[in-house]
Amino acid sequence: MPRPLLVTDDPTDLDDLLRLAATAGVEVDVATDVGSARRSWTNAPLVVIGPDLLDRCAGARLGRRSGVVALGHDLDDASIWRRAVDVGAERVVFLPDAEPWLVQALADAVESTDRAGLVVATLGGRGGAGATTLAVALAQAGARRGHCTLLVDGDPLGGGVDLVLGAEETGGLRWPDLTATRGRLPAAAVTDALPQRDGIAVLSWDRGAATQLPVAAVEAVLDAGRRACDLVVVDLARTLDDVANEVLAAATCTLLVVPAEVRATAAAARVAARAGLLCRDLRLVVRGPSPGDLGAADVQQALGLPLAGALKAEPHLDAALEEGRPPGRRARSPLGSFCDGLLRDLDGHTHEKVRRAA
Ligand SMILES: Nc1ncnc2c1ncn2[C@@H]1O[C@H](COP(=O)(O)OP(=O)(O)OP(=O)(O)O)[C@@H](O)[C@H]1O
Ligand SMILES: [Mg+2]
Repeated sequence: MPRPLLVTDDPTDLDDLLRLAATAGVEVDVATDVGSARRSWTNAPLVVIGPDLLDRCAGARLGRRSGVVALGHDLDDASIWRRAVDVGAERVVFLPDAEPWLVQALADAVESTDRAGLVVATLGGRGGAGATTLAVALAQAGARRGHCTLLVDGDPLGGGVDLVLGAEETGGLRWPDLTATRGRLPAAAVTDALPQRDGIAVLSWDRGAATQLPVAAVEAVLDAGRRACDLVVVDLARTLDDVANEVLAAATCTLLVVPAEVRATAAAARVAARAGLLCRDLRLVVRGPSPGDLGAADVQQALGLPLAGALKAEPHLDAALEEGRPPGRRARSPLGSFCDGLLRDLDGHTHEKVRRAA
């Protein structure tokens, strides 16, 4: 894969640029003369030229291309702008002010930016409603569909979604490793660095004490997830704190899981009233069994939300969970077929929106 190209023979500038590339988690090619710059000139996704080699690059007629950035030292040196134009640079940047911009530009240059994964949040209408189960089953459906899928545990007081996925013994980063994160995370941090199971990358808790989750870390993970993955599923707690608010506002769709029971419907009305203020698309999943024969239409009428579907009770679910067999793994189970259908529908909506926007 072509790498960004740094063109300079000045050791101080080179050190600075290599440090920024390391911050961005990006490997680069370095050219300390025009001859080696020519070899990567056309294919490099981004070229940063130091002031020492600007004139020589311009004189060598390397050809016009986009994504060329000139590095300047002195804001008062008016000649830098003319020399940047001569080489075909799109902008001139000065360090240290432009450090965040350059880190972002280097990271963007090596990542595919046309991905904008779906973010689906699951939320329980009452405690033990089935939100975590649905989140894991939805991630399974995503992987079945060939989607690059990230499953995020948004409930610090839950048992850890890695346990439900059967990935508790798989190595990789967990939330406590990422709580200091803010700003831009490289896409690889949410794909390669996380534990994987069944083609799903999972960001969960470890078995230590519960830690407060900073909103900035959640924001960074969602942003990286959207860039790196086709589907990001976030299992939320019902506390609806700042972290949940961030996720609900970012989610393409939020699924409110409500058991088909009177008390669960009453509790879900409260959750829906709060979550509805933030969600773009809040949909109801009514899940069986229904001990009093309350139908999905009754629950829907009581809550006044669009119905994503009625989910039949999953047989032998608790035994499977105890044995570390993830829910929804089999496409023909109620959870499996429900999630396959839901995802088909969500993917269809996204494609339709893209088509209409084009
Ligand atoms: N699809 C389903 N079919 C049958 N039973 C289910 C289903 N989903 C969940 N359950 C039952 O509900 C229990 C709780 O499920 P789950 O942990 O997914 O709920 P939750 O909403 O995430 O709960 P919490 O409030 O603890 O976060 C399961 O152990 C199972 O007994
Ligand atoms: Mg849960």
